[in-house]
Amino acid sequence: MVRVGVVGYGTIGERIADGVAKQQDMELVGVVDVAPALPVRALVESGRGYPVYCGLPDRIPDMEAAGVPVEGTLDDMLEQVDMVCDATPPGIGMKNKEIYERHGVKATFQGGEKDAISPILFSSTANYDLAKDVDYIKLVSCNTTGMVRAVVAVDEAFGVEKAVATIVRRAADPSEIHKGPIDAAIPGKVPSHQATDLMRVMPHLDAMGFIITVPTTHGHVITMHVTLKQEIATEHALDVFRQGRRIRTFRIEDGFLSNTHIFDYLRDLGVPRADMFEVGIWEETVLAQGRDLYWIHNIPQEAIVIPENIDAVRARMGMQVDKWDAIDTTDRYLGIYKG
Ligand SMILES: NC(=O)c1ccc[n+]([C@@H]2O[C@H](COP(=O)([O-])OP(=O)(O)OC[C@H]3O[C@@H](n4cnc5c(N)ncnc54)[C@H](O)[C@@H]3O)[C@@H](O)[C@H]2O)c1
Repeated sequence: MVRVGVVGYGTIGERIADGVAKQQDMELVGVVDVAPALPVRALVESGRGYPVYCGLPDRIPDMEAAGVPVEGTLDDMLEQVDMVCDATPPGIGMKNKEIYERHGVKATFQGGEKDAISPILFSSTANYDLAKDVDYIKLVSCNTTGMVRAVVAVDEAFGVEKAVATIVRRAADPSEIHKGPIDAAIPGKVPSHQATDLMRVMPHLDAMGFIITVPTTHGHVITMHVTLKQEIATEHALDVFRQGRRIRTFRIEDGFLSNTHIFDYLRDLGVPRADMFEVGIWEETVLAQGRDLYWIHNIPQEAIVIPENIDAVRARMGMQVDKWDAIDTTDRYLGIYKG
């Protein structure tokens, strides 16, 4: 059993913790936060029973006063783990890295951290092997994670020369009431960082990206245009997407008219938090014309990076040598394996 801790029990951290807890070859040793915020309170109230540690010792009384039983400090947890997944707000991970180094604990960091935190940018479907020898691994952002999965699937099937992405970016997570816009669409500078990150993890291809931030919370929507190395028919691409790992296809015709409809459907299914780990591709948006392939996909931003965090632990801890073995193992335990 590889022993894993999660530092930062917010939107991403609570999901990583649940994902790790489901991996039968990993032990979730505990989670760390600095305040009795709602995810921490919900953890205690739900009875899920993950041990809670406090990242700042002087905050322990606050947590205990809110009814959160605190097992110890961050240092105490680090004495018991092989690796942590750090999901603290941007910038905190860089400070935590020094603490992890002191304890000889390896770590993953999320897309909000500066690139300088790690010698690599990781997205397992593209570059699993790179994380085998690196103690501090930065993952790509949620948008890039989904883009990488879809582009890798198409690249392995047909070969990709160039990818152009236009990201319609959700302004905020549902509870981020301080963020906007509420009545605007904001263009970003080109190329978007997601396109340059895509080229870092898939250095053999050319990429370009546009980004526009809009007032929604249920996921980023990306239009993709890739130039292939060969001509294909639309049906070939649909087959690849239907079978692709961590890709889920939806049909507009079935009622999936928007990303909110996908979210509602997951709620109706009773999926915890209505989380979707896969990138969602609308089938009617897939179109091949000669060597040009187009599609539109949805990025469920709160959940999509969870499988890749778990894969990074697998890679660094030597749990699986082969990329697809690792991905399949993670996915089996998460309940999203496509055999
Ligand atoms: N929310 C998303 O949609 C999303 C998607 C992909 C990647 N990310 C990235 O994931 C990271 C975390 O984002 P988030 O949305 O989960 O943030 P969040 O604010 O929801 O959660 C962060 C948690 O870390 C805790 N924290 C703060 N300082 C700490 C410390 N010193 N020690 C331990 N815990 C501490 C906070 O109390 C909070 O509970 C960021 O880098 C972000 O860019 C976020």
